[in-house]
Amino acid sequence: MKKILTAILAAAVVCTSLFALAGCGNSSKNSDSKSSGSSSSEKGELHMATNASFEPYEYQEGGKVVGIDAEIAQAICDKLGYKLVIDDMEFDAIITAVTSGKADFGMAGMTVTDERKKSVDFTDPYTNAIQAIIVNESDSKVSSKKDLEGATVGVQLGTTGDVYVTDVKDAKVERFSKGADAVLALTQNKVDAVVIDNEPAKKFVEQNKGTKILDESFKNENYAICLKKGSDLTEQFNKALKELKDDGTVKKIIDKYIKA
Ligand code: ARG
Repeated sequence: MKKILTAILAAAVVCTSLFALAGCGNSSKNSDSKSSGSSSSEKGELHMATNASFEPYEYQEGGKVVGIDAEIAQAICDKLGYKLVIDDMEFDAIITAVTSGKADFGMAGMTVTDERKKSVDFTDPYTNAIQAIIVNESDSKVSSKKDLEGATVGVQLGTTGDVYVTDVKDAKVERFSKGADAVLALTQNKVDAVVIDNEPAKKFVEQNKGTKILDESFKNENYAICLKKGSDLTEQFNKALKELKDDGTVKKIIDKYIKA
């Protein structure tokens, strides 16, 4: 009796190990065939930190974040085989989201600056911009860049516009969490001018009758994607970005949102 039991037990052990082996073989075969396929989410998700109140680069439409950055990011993720997930947050939270690893990259019409380079890495630029000055069409105290001196100026918190205006002599800086709120304050005469990136500035002026953009502006800036310092992704992003620039995809996306 004992002998029979031992035999059964032994057989069971052999069976289980055989099953385990077979199982392993199977699953490795599965993942092999997966990686040779071109399904777009095989490497998992990449989280993009953005501030979607910055048309035409990123804005909410029908419960989705759309715009130039959203589309370029999608094209990069498609190329690299990742599923893109967009996380909308305050602009000044983006860099912390990236450095803490809460997001894999930040893309938000973000200007490359030496200050930011101390905490994140940037890809090569994908487009450029300037900080424009928006004023009220009539009775404006500000009609040139020089007039910003001593004026009350609205900016979006933590942007390069904020940095520039903070340096303007005697300017009183009003910092808003959204560019749209700064422009609203302008239409209510609570600020004398708003300094913000030129393309969003055009959208704000379109949406707010009685406002205009001055001919004078601040210096040229480059927009790029920021990643955690030392991230392996930066090189992959640069490679994908270069291909998308070379084959005209980046230009096509920009032209779709910005009519010449
Ligand atoms: N280009 C400016 C900067 O980097 C403003 C960007 C604001 N972007 C946004 N999605 N709100 O500081």
